[in-house]
Amino acid sequence: MSRRRKIYEGKAKILYEGPEAGTLVQHFKDDATAFNGKRHEVIDGKGVLNNRISEFIFTRLNALGVPTHFVRRLNMREQLIREVEIIPLEVVVRNVAAGSICKRLGLEPGTRLPRSIIEFYYKDDALNDPLISEEHITAFGWATPQELDDIMSLAVRVNDFLSGLFAGVGIQLVDFKIECGRHYEGDMMRIILADEISPDNCRLWDVKTNAKLDKDVFREELGGLLDAYREVAQRLGILTENDNALATGPRLVQ
Ligand code: TMP
Ligand code: ASP
Repeated sequence: MSRRRKIYEGKAKILYEGPEAGTLVQHFKDDATAFNGKRHEVIDGKGVLNNRISEFIFTRLNALGVPTHFVRRLNMREQLIREVEIIPLEVVVRNVAAGSICKRLGLEPGTRLPRSIIEFYYKDDALNDPLISEEHITAFGWATPQELDDIMSLAVRVNDFLSGLFAGVGIQLVDFKIECGRHYEGDMMRIILADEISPDNCRLWDVKTNAKLDKDVFREELGGLLDAYREVAQRLGILTENDNALATGPRLVQ
């Protein structure tokens, strides 16, 4: 079999050329990084869990009519996706104060925000992904006003869906980050959801105990990241109960 062409390698994922034009293969690595790559560890099984959790969420979003790049899962670590032109924005939706907004605005972590707040960060590692406003986005042409409207309405729909999904399994959706892209089909273009949605890019707190079930476990060196991600997968019904007992990493159903 010939070697696949690597299109892009990020901190947690690799994109390969897909089997047909307009498709790519998204490969989930076990690498965990924080603080713009300053902390790095390999956590056996993280990629497998994120592939499954992201598949679960994107499949449901597709079914609800929220356009995404996800086509289907290919294997334990890979999924087939539609090729998009990534918009260089990290779109963060916050429901509860945590992380950088607490430092920036002096808020107590855990404070419910007056309403859901959408923030934009410019995707540029060399600049440390700075917070920007809609004015910057349209003035520099990173997205048009119409595209920005589409991005914000996607973000709101994803927030509504995810908040309900997680509330149903005893998890509070504190905040999350998404990325969007332009998908071209003939001479039509539309904005669709890209990247991944997993505990790597959400803050998920247990409703009863406030225990963190997301990448903050790694950022704050609390230990047990895989157990936290496995707990999320189990509550969503992706893993069975007794998979918890496996010391050799997650065993997947289906
Ligand atoms: P923040 O509070 O650090 O700004 O993070 C907000 C949300 O965005 C949180 O759910 C974590 C997620 N996030 C990423 O997915 N990638 C990143 O590089 C950063 C900084 C945050
Ligand atoms: N993803 C970023 C990094 O790799 C930051 C983060 O998620 O905290 O450093």
